[in-house]
Amino acid sequence: MSPRKIIIDTDPGQDDAVAILLALASPEDIDLLGITAVAGNVPLPLTQKNARIICELAGKPDTKVFAGCEAPLQRKLVTAEHVHGKTGLDGPVMADPTMPLQAQHAVDFIIDTLRHEPAGTVTLCPLGPLTNLAAAMLKAPDIVPRIQEIVLMGGAYFEVGNITPAAEFNIYVDPEAADIVFKSGAKLIVMPLDVTHKALTTRPRIEAFRALGTPAGRCVAEWTDYFERFDMGKYGSEGAPLHDPCVTAYVIRPELFTGRHINVVIETKGEFTLGMTVADWWGVSGRAPNAMFMGDIDAEGFFALLTERIARL
Ligand code: BDR
Ligand code: CA
Repeated sequence: MSPRKIIIDTDPGQDDAVAILLALASPEDIDLLGITAVAGNVPLPLTQKNARIICELAGKPDTKVFAGCEAPLQRKLVTAEHVHGKTGLDGPVMADPTMPLQAQHAVDFIIDTLRHEPAGTVTLCPLGPLTNLAAAMLKAPDIVPRIQEIVLMGGAYFEVGNITPAAEFNIYVDPEAADIVFKSGAKLIVMPLDVTHKALTTRPRIEAFRALGTPAGRCVAEWTDYFERFDMGKYGSEGAPLHDPCVTAYVIRPELFTGRHINVVIETKGEFTLGMTVADWWGVSGRAPNAMFMGDIDAEGFFALLTERIARL
């Protein structure tokens, strides 16, 4: 099979960084057409810069990186420096990138790519708030039926929320954008907290990255060292959840994940539940399924894949 053409839409973030490294290390599975940055974990000037730092770390400075929306569709940006640090990529000290940022706006790149590639051959992989995707759908509704799949990290059901008691960060930051994407009719594969909280960076898993002895392996270990202090303190878990790499791992090995095809709607009005992904896991609403909502992961297989691929960089 030829590699799948994807666009990664992202707000790096240490876990976004690992997701991007996995994609860049897997040319036989993934043809990365471009990386589109969005405001999320940190503001846009940092996310677009971080995306380029990650490409250079991977030895892929020819990757096209585009800057997108600097704020959610209708709201003020909420960021997560308390998790990811001031730069969004706190941990190892990284040099500023020298590779260029593309001149085109990310939203136009997404639209042009979907219009020019054969219909049904491009998968979108959002790892942050869904602002860029929703903006593209609003500007060019004709692209929606041309999308092969949207594989996204966002939402939660049994795990409820991380940024509020009811909502996961990516959906909470731009619930109106998420609402547009979830109602779009595009094929959706969702990696919620229910899955990502099972993808934990335990000590042996972090040490396996460090033991690779490469700059990429060392950075992954140092990023996860940094990132895990927050989640371990919060959840008392063995390590931090490696959220976003679940998306790129799914593109490479979908069999690592299991879930249910169910109806998912986004709460855009709730006083206490804004950004909640109301997932009809038990099929009680009578609403038509619109998303493959994952619930489980083969965590050993996932970390084995990550370590094997990152070793190549
Ligand atoms: C999501 O929020 C961000 O902080 C992470 O990068 C991930 O995409 C997890 O809720
Ligand atoms: Ca992210």
